[in-house]
Amino acid sequence: MEEYKVPRRRLYDKDTIPAIGMGTFGSDKYGPGQVAQAVYGGIRAGYRLIDCAAVYQNEDKIGEALERVIAEGSVEREDLFIASKVWNDMHGEGKVAESCEKSLRDLHLSYLDLYFIHWPFPNYHAPGCDGDSRNPDSRPFSVEEFMDTWRQCERLVEEGKVRHIGMSNMTVKKMEAVLPHCRIRPAALEMELHPGFQQPELFTYAQEHDIVPIGYCPLGSPSRPERDRTTEDVADMEMPEIVEIARRHGIHPALVCLKWAVARGQVPIPFSVNPEQYVENLRCIAQDPLTEEEMEQIRRADRGCRLIKGQVFLWPGAKGWEELWDM
Ligand SMILES: NC(=O)c1ccc[n+]([C@@H]2O[C@H](COP(=O)([O-])OP(=O)(O)OC[C@H]3O[C@@H](n4cnc5c(N)ncnc54)[C@H](OP(=O)(O)O)[C@@H]3O)[C@@H](O)[C@H]2O)c1
Repeated sequence: MEEYKVPRRRLYDKDTIPAIGMGTFGSDKYGPGQVAQAVYGGIRAGYRLIDCAAVYQNEDKIGEALERVIAEGSVEREDLFIASKVWNDMHGEGKVAESCEKSLRDLHLSYLDLYFIHWPFPNYHAPGCDGDSRNPDSRPFSVEEFMDTWRQCERLVEEGKVRHIGMSNMTVKKMEAVLPHCRIRPAALEMELHPGFQQPELFTYAQEHDIVPIGYCPLGSPSRPERDRTTEDVADMEMPEIVEIARRHGIHPALVCLKWAVARGQVPIPFSVNPEQYVENLRCIAQDPLTEEEMEQIRRADRGCRLIKGQVFLWPGAKGWEELWDM
């Protein structure tokens, strides 16, 4: 396959990150082998950023794919940008290093390019649980607890285990509370971003602080697990504005979401195990750009519709998922 060079974005320290990456959460629908095969094919097609996480339970299979694609000479390790995340049950003292070591072992790597705190609290649910499940040990966000976890991430940078560290599922209020205490700044902020949920305040906050916004669920996550669905949810690829622009360009609505994301300034990480889809997702960002009017039309189409509400992370007595997001 002809090699495609992905454009890159600058991080605060002048290092760069690919402008688009591949997601690896199988949504309880696609097994580790299928996701790993997509990573293998994706890298061969030109993907360089791969968004992994311990909780996706597929890093060992992805590690085999990485080893294979590097051994075959399709790519050098230094040209890849591999991200992983510490899960909520591994925030305690000494646990972050243990979690990172496991991800490194599973991914067959000696360092990660980016390591995220997946959620800003130690509240966790069992993989595959339903939307009503609650953990009695769950508790609200605490700056002290978060910073204890962040300090452990900073140590990983100092030890050369990870090159950059990042935060995920934050709010402006939480960022304002923790940023002044960081010895090593977050290079990236992973957050839900799609046309129906643009988070303009948090997005602008990240940009103003030289933190690259990485957009998850960039297509509106049509295959997300049942526990993350409600009847009010907007389907981005069916939004009239997106459908109309797609028709005008003669492309699938998925590609409109990705062109918009990259032109706006976030790094989308679409998931697909279908080679036709993941190749077009990657390539579309460099062709046939949206017009300024179309970008403005999408900006106005924001529905403020959060899909990943996180209700399974709520603590006993919490009123609703909005509390997780300081609303
Ligand atoms: N930090 C966090 O807390 C967090 C949370 C959620 C997600 N993430 C990351 O973000 C990644 C992306 O989010 P996501 O997987 O939830 O959702 P997504 O990328 O918005 O949607 C993926 C789905 O879109 C469909 N699709 C992909 N390409 C397409 C195309 N070209 N044409 C038509 N349909 C297409 C596929 O649906 P079908 O399966 O139906 O074909 C695919 O499963 C995840 O994999 C994960 O790495 C991070």
